[in-house]
Amino acid sequence: MATAPALSDFEPRFGHPPDVVVQAPGRINLIGDHTDYSGGLVLPMAIDRAVLVAARATSARCLDVYSVPFDQTARISLETMEVDRAAPWSCYVAGVLAMLRRQHVEPRGAEFWIGGDVPPGAGLASSAALEVGVALAMLSLASKKLPRVALATLCRQAEQECAGAPCGIMDQLCCVSARADHAMLIDCRSMMTQQVPLDLGEAALVVVDSGVRHSIAGAGYARRRRECAVALATLAQVDPRITSLRDVGEGRLSKLRPSLDETLFRRVRHVATENARVVEAAGAISSGDVERFGRLMTSSHVSLRDDFQASCVEVDDLVASLSAVKGVHGARMTGGGFGGCVIALVDRAALERASAAVRGVPNSRGDAREMFVVRPSDAARVLSNDG
Ligand code: GLA
Repeated sequence: MATAPALSDFEPRFGHPPDVVVQAPGRINLIGDHTDYSGGLVLPMAIDRAVLVAARATSARCLDVYSVPFDQTARISLETMEVDRAAPWSCYVAGVLAMLRRQHVEPRGAEFWIGGDVPPGAGLASSAALEVGVALAMLSLASKKLPRVALATLCRQAEQECAGAPCGIMDQLCCVSARADHAMLIDCRSMMTQQVPLDLGEAALVVVDSGVRHSIAGAGYARRRRECAVALATLAQVDPRITSLRDVGEGRLSKLRPSLDETLFRRVRHVATENARVVEAAGAISSGDVERFGRLMTSSHVSLRDDFQASCVEVDDLVASLSAVKGVHGARMTGGGFGGCVIALVDRAALERASAAVRGVPNSRGDAREMFVVRPSDAARVLSNDG
């Protein structure tokens, strides 16, 4: 993405050029959903769509933040860190400032401009990108640095505490550590990451927005988290060696089944089988086995749909229509679910057919469905720093 929009839009609005411009990518998760908050494995990649944050320091004791997607300015006082109620999106910004202060980085008064091309709420981790972008811009204005994992953890904390969204670490960690042409295998228990070269040969990864807006602060995600916590508490009583659902391998499922009711058993079965699929998918990608990777994506979707029940009809319809196209190796929901985006692994020669298939799926909002190709991209970074 070019720096031009942030630079050229900032000056007419605030009367000066920005001191710093940061680009923070969105992500898709290739496989491994609803496993991160159970200490599990995930395999996301940053995409070539990003949130752009431009900022300039001022001598005021507040931040004036303009958001392009919401076409709105919010003022955040550095004394109270109070969020402008008329601009709920600004809680992500205020949250990051509050967490920076907790890390002894004192936020400066500033003007912020937030734009880019990650649609908010579509399941492409726009909020993580916003948090990381704001944090990097403020760190730059304050001439401070933080290690990557600390930065990701701080941003997740902002989302959890200030936006009330009980998310895991995947999105923020991917945003700060991703590498172009690679997927990232993350062990969310040890926080170890491994870059997996992503060469899909003749195939491409595509994204289709279901149009159903999801929110990690919404009821479905939080309910699933609670169910996983209850299942863990129950299993820990049966076997004290189980300290996270990560400890439940596929091989132990049948033995543990009598201890859980049917719903909780299905949630645990999803986590156990999904962790195994992530390992297999990383192997399939490394050996260039596109077909196996595609099959794993589809079985991941089935597990999220039937066992974890984190999908919805619109997303399932898109997955079904894509899967029926010759040349599509696999398709699945990605991210938190309950709406949001679908991803698919498609032979380049079949892209037109796939695009026609999704255009044929009814859309409740009545607008045309867009399918776009995504490329594995670099982590968040400061593009220009004139301060
Ligand atoms: C959202 C959360 C992540 C993760 C996914 C589901 O994107 O922010 O932490 O839990 O949902 O895999």
